[in-house]
Amino acid sequence: MYVVSGSASKNIASHLVRELSANIADVEIRRFIDGECYVRVKDDLEGEDVVIVQNTYPDENIIETILLKSAVKDMEPRSLTLVIPYFGYARQDRKFLEGEAVSAKALAEIIGEDVDLIVTVDPHKDYITEFFKTKAISCSAVPEIARYLADRDIDVVLAPDKGAVGRAKRASEILGCESDFLEKVRISDEIVEMKTKRIDVKDKTVAIIDDIISTGGTMAKAVEEMKKQGAKKIYVACTHGLFIGNAIDKIEKAGASEVISTDTIENAYSKVKVAPQIATILKENLIN
Ligand code: R5P
Repeated sequence: MYVVSGSASKNIASHLVRELSANIADVEIRRFIDGECYVRVKDDLEGEDVVIVQNTYPDENIIETILLKSAVKDMEPRSLTLVIPYFGYARQDRKFLEGEAVSAKALAEIIGEDVDLIVTVDPHKDYITEFFKTKAISCSAVPEIARYLADRDIDVVLAPDKGAVGRAKRASEILGCESDFLEKVRISDEIVEMKTKRIDVKDKTVAIIDDIISTGGTMAKAVEEMKKQGAKKIYVACTHGLFIGNAIDKIEKAGASEVISTDTIENAYSKVKVAPQIATILKENLIN
């Protein structure tokens, strides 16, 4: 088995190499002066089981994925699996207004072509795996996030909106505590409001869990609201830490004690690893 690492997912790729006793493919990826991408896979992957690991975020990684897939496919591997730790464009998962592109579906159709298996982590909605025309499996980082929080004496796990309540519930079951959700209203890309909803957090330790932290607006408002309601300590966790601009600063200023993300997007807050869950899926589906 060979693992081909895209430039966004080198740590996860090297973990998978170890977990699967695979080889890492020798790959050259660079940009021309005008920004276009050049990809060369130097190993001969004919007849091999090949796993490409790459995020579809930011945009340039989509092109890189397409080129990596094309280079590998031309070598006629035995099987081709695409691991997408962070599947970008997933938040537009349906038409909210007539004429809109459903980006999650559009990208799934392009990126999933010519691939035997797709593996992704906490897609924005579970049904996104159905947009791929090939077999797609998702795993969740929530149990690992919960285990990371296990010694923090969490009293209640919250979702910042109703859509994320499943994740909060799952974490609370592992932690053996309560769960609830806040009521978010999105005003614009950067501005969100939290409706006042009374939650019993007075003098309690709270964890707020979401799939993505982007600008940090959602989490900052959630933390602010829980502080107002008397929470003693607040941990903030997500699977995909995009942390755009001053996201971390906003969340910390709102009063969070710690920010936790996984390594689907490698950053200074990547405290939870997703490679073990991905490796389990690959072992079950690829290794006979
Ligand atoms: C949206 O539905 C997602 O689950 C996140 O809540 C959202 O992407 C967070 O964005 P931001 O950090 O910009 O508020």
